[in-house]
Amino acid sequence: YDYDLLVVGSANADLVIGVERRPGPGETVLGSDLSVHPGGKGANQAVAAARLGARTALLARLGDDAHGRLLRDAQEAAGVDTSWVRAGGAPTGVALITVDPSGDNSIVVSPGANGRLSPADVRESTALLASAPVVSAQLEIPLETVVEVVRLLPSGTRFVLNASPPARLPAEVLTACDPLIVNEHEARVVSEHASATPLDGDPASWAKALLALGPRSVVVTLGGRGALVADGGGAAPVPAVPVRAVDTTGAGDAFTAALAWRLGTGETLSDAAAYAVRVGAAAVTKRGAQASFPTAQEVASLDAARARLADR
Ligand code: RIB
Ligand code: NA
Repeated sequence: YDYDLLVVGSANADLVIGVERRPGPGETVLGSDLSVHPGGKGANQAVAAARLGARTALLARLGDDAHGRLLRDAQEAAGVDTSWVRAGGAPTGVALITVDPSGDNSIVVSPGANGRLSPADVRESTALLASAPVVSAQLEIPLETVVEVVRLLPSGTRFVLNASPPARLPAEVLTACDPLIVNEHEARVVSEHASATPLDGDPASWAKALLALGPRSVVVTLGGRGALVADGGGAAPVPAVPVRAVDTTGAGDAFTAALAWRLGTGETLSDAAAYAVRVGAAAVTKRGAQASFPTAQEVASLDAARARLADR
């Protein structure tokens, strides 16, 4: 393989303002100074994987503008191969993000060029789909583009989907996922679209209900409560790593990237998810999305620090 991970997905300029609380309809609130960061769920995944040491390529579409240059530079600085990143067709995607004092965020995305990443772009990159053991995607690009990825995926290549933002997923996408990764909100939306029965009970029963929709495996992320993994062999909790959350933006992308990369190295779903939880935990302790993603050494030294605390 040329790469350890191929990410197909979105790239956004994140325009971030800290707020005491979010405005209601018709209301104006004052926030912090604006900061502009490279983001977007696809670009975030690619940077997260590269920072952990994975040889990573990104298939994405940027605008021919300053935000596009910011994003390309950030990919290159992290060591992502950008030869497959297209440009033009619309302005670079933008995410308007407010972060509140608890570190929670709300995001409005203008897809821009992400919305022009087309099935034809995927067809022109067919060779790329065979060049990594794992391909990961999210849903800030057109669904038909994701469908084209699963149609052209070589039989030996694993497909990992973070269904974010959640959408109605056709059976051919659901059955390709190994795993389907969702948080609690996404779990509800995906399952309500696919079957008439709303999710109830505990996350383990949700994971089983999602598994019945066709994915080979499912991961439900539970924020500060860790995650849950499920496949044909059953469901298992993945313990949380306690941290003080400063900014959760992009933590789910770092989680997905770490999981996808480790699965490609042959790790079990449980082991890969346990590592991914630690990567996501490290990411929430710092501001921003890409700027907060840890290196493999940083993950290892956080592990060592926790082990020392546990020994005392
Ligand atoms: O998952 C976080 C990302 O969602 C942000 O970087 C923002 O661009 C939105 O796409
Ligand atoms: Na962060």
